[in-house]
Amino acid sequence: MKGVLAICVFTVFSFCYFSSFPGSKWRADIRASYRAQIPNGAYNREEKTNISHILFGIGGSAETWTRRRHYCELWWKPNTTRGFVWLDEEPSKPWPETSPPYKISADTARFKYTNWYGSRSAVRMARILKESFELGFENVRWFVMGDDDTVFFAENLVDVLSKYDYEQMYYIGSNSESVEQDLEHSYGMGYGGGGFAISYPLAAELVRILDGCIDRYAAAYGSDQKIGGCVSEIGVPVTKELGFHQMDIRGSPYGLLSAHPLAPLVSLHHLDYIQPLFPGENRVGSIKRLIHAYKSDPSRTLQHSFCHDTNLNWSVSISWGYNMQLYPFLVTAKDLSTPLQTFLTWGSWSREPFTFNTRVMSLEPCERPVIFYFDGVEKFGNGNTTTSYRRARSEQRRRCEEERYGSVYAVKGFNVSAGLLDPGVWNKALRRQCLCEIISGSRSTGRRRAG
Ligand SMILES: *[C@@H]1O[C@H](CO)[C@@H](O)[C@H](O)[C@H]1NC(C)=O
Ligand SMILES: *[C@@H]1O[C@H](CO)[C@@H](O)[C@H](O)[C@H]1NC(C)=O
Ligand SMILES: *[C@@H]1O[C@H](CO)[C@@H](O)[C@H](O)[C@H]1NC(C)=O
Ligand SMILES: *[C@@H]1O[C@H](CO)[C@@H](O)[C@H](O)[C@H]1NC(C)=O
Ligand SMILES: *[C@@H]1O[C@H](CO)[C@@H](O)[C@H](O)[C@H]1NC(C)=O
Repeated sequence: MKGVLAICVFTVFSFCYFSSFPGSKWRADIRASYRAQIPNGAYNREEKTNISHILFGIGGSAETWTRRRHYCELWWKPNTTRGFVWLDEEPSKPWPETSPPYKISADTARFKYTNWYGSRSAVRMARILKESFELGFENVRWFVMGDDDTVFFAENLVDVLSKYDYEQMYYIGSNSESVEQDLEHSYGMGYGGGGFAISYPLAAELVRILDGCIDRYAAAYGSDQKIGGCVSEIGVPVTKELGFHQMDIRGSPYGLLSAHPLAPLVSLHHLDYIQPLFPGENRVGSIKRLIHAYKSDPSRTLQHSFCHDTNLNWSVSISWGYNMQLYPFLVTAKDLSTPLQTFLTWGSWSREPFTFNTRVMSLEPCERPVIFYFDGVEKFGNGNTTTSYRRARSEQRRRCEEERYGSVYAVKGFNVSAGLLDPGVWNKALRRQCLCEIISGSRSTGRRRAG
């Protein structure tokens, strides 16, 4: 039996604690500490923003809803989340109770749309903001727009929006991952699939000019680009929040989501166009699995942390609630935080460029990490969680015959213990969770500890 124990050099407040499943030949325990997690004053403001302060406007259509509703229903909480799916016409089937209520968009025939490769429905989608505003709902601080295949992580969305003063004009969202899309549409807008948020005062201003403005941006492809154009007339720039994911990629999202930026996960999109998050699981099932982890610690979902064991020469990289990657050699922090390129660009299916760096995913099994996928979570009364990660069956096919990999293959899974991550951390200077530096490791029997 082998014992490995790593302790973060960081001040101890709570721990993340990794241990291998019993029964596996090898045993690995890596302990790392998190920095203190105390919310700052701003976060604890009176009348903190909550889910009911958001009015969602989801762009849908009667024809596609039957297919798309599965994504929306994963995050929509009837009687808690407020908002509507906006359709082009009355649905032919009875409306599901688990779906958000729907509204039929007003006719848009009078507006100009001249983009040759796009769809006129973009005009209707752009007007969702105005039609939502004009419903006159009380206590709305934010209007959040999304597509019918956008999955929002509502608690995190609330946390992100809480950072901003809803009494000022804010336009919050993120860009496309594919540079070709940003060049084609704009870097200066919140992409509609990833979703974007508009504060009440900005919405009020936008509603005033929107109808005239839509004609000025008749050549713009999508509703998000039209909104982006109109917001730029008001003079408000987009505030980028890296947790909104347009997911303009083709292939597997594994590399991207295993190296999530230091920001809460707010949305995922294009789930019908990318491979399922978990091998052997379908698309909707994959999102359900991620949401299962998410529910027990929303802020920590996909948060990245890694440890090195300098005795075994192991590098461990965790994307909380998604996977754990083990390399039987030392990989720099810089490399671990750079997404493995398991995907291509959205429009032309090219290898590059993206709005972030990537590193090559080798085809050689002796250069790849061994991946353990999230498989269950246990939550304790004090908010601490233990998530378990198991090696995927698909992973077991192509093996590296080197001895150093043999020892990794002997590990069936890991348990990761972590304290509840307080969303207050997002209001402070950012630092990766669980910064580990391995102080000691050992090949002897049982566990050894040092540091
Ligand atoms: C679990 O929570 C307690 C406080 O209740 C804390 O002292 C402990 O370090 C936490 N454990 C882990 C593994 O985070
Ligand atoms: C890992 O977690 C599972 C499920 O929570 C539990 O049954 C198992 O005993 C744990 N293993 C270790 C080594 O802590
Ligand atoms: C949200 O905050 C308002 C106060 O602005 C409060 O009346 C309402 O009950 C809260 N809703 C939820 C779901 O917490
Ligand atoms: C939502 O509220 C309506 C009426 O207030 C009620 O009939 C319905 O059962 C509620 N749905 C859920 C899922 O709580
Ligand atoms: C780890 O790497 C160092 C330097 O490359 C090497 O000297 C050492 O033998 C390796 N240890 C193991 C356990 O492979």
